[in-house]
Amino acid sequence: MKINVLFSPATADELYFTGKTTVVIDVLRATTTIVTALQNGAKEIVPVATVEFAVKISGGMFGGQTLLGGERNTKKIEGFALGNSPLEYTEEVVSGKAIVLYTTNGTKAIAKAKFSETLVTCSFANISSVASFLSGLNKDVEIVCAGRSNNFSMEDSVCAGKLISEISKLNEELYLSDSAKASVALNKSFGKNILKMLEESEHGNILLDNGFEEDLKYCSKLNSSSAIPYFTGNVLKLYTDNKNSSQTGKEN
Ligand code: MLT
Repeated sequence: MKINVLFSPATADELYFTGKTTVVIDVLRATTTIVTALQNGAKEIVPVATVEFAVKISGGMFGGQTLLGGERNTKKIEGFALGNSPLEYTEEVVSGKAIVLYTTNGTKAIAKAKFSETLVTCSFANISSVASFLSGLNKDVEIVCAGRSNNFSMEDSVCAGKLISEISKLNEELYLSDSAKASVALNKSFGKNILKMLEESEHGNILLDNGFEEDLKYCSKLNSSSAIPYFTGNVLKLYTDNKNSSQTGKEN
């Protein structure tokens, strides 16, 4: 099983992902928000790459059952029901709802990887579940760090390293690319105190300046969820391992 890490989605085009097993990470905050929303009963998340497309498709979706969520410069977009704070995505708010989500980096990275054969999202919240899912697949993996404005971000890279370390506990035959080895080293250096690492990161500082201190605490929690957001039919749903179903192993 070979693991490669892209420190930014900019280093690949959409076709690069064709047929691949891909994990997208945007710890602050898109993939933490996504796993929280699905864990709290959201029916599905529709990740989109532009605000215009979010507005367009939400208009055609079932009124009342669809919420628009997302951010620009960390703040809720005018006219949207929700921002991008995972703390907003409570069971009361999202249960049974489809959520069309636009974020500056995270949902764009997911949309870019849409031709993957298997596409899941990861954050510190669900590392352990994603690691056992990938280890079970036993296929080569591309980890895409959403990063910041097509640049490297510490939090996504440390999370990638921690995910690889978890997979290595389950699968001894790993071949790591140079970027994967670098992620593991970053996790060793910066991953012991996740909250401190987030507080000292560039994006963490921007979130702190905008009053999202509680979000950093929430996003730093390790393995608070067993949910795996799984991309199917252009939406993210909760992965369920339907071993006994005729449609084995895909989504619910
Ligand atoms: C992003 O996609 O860039 C982030 O999720 C931004 C944010 O912190 O809201």
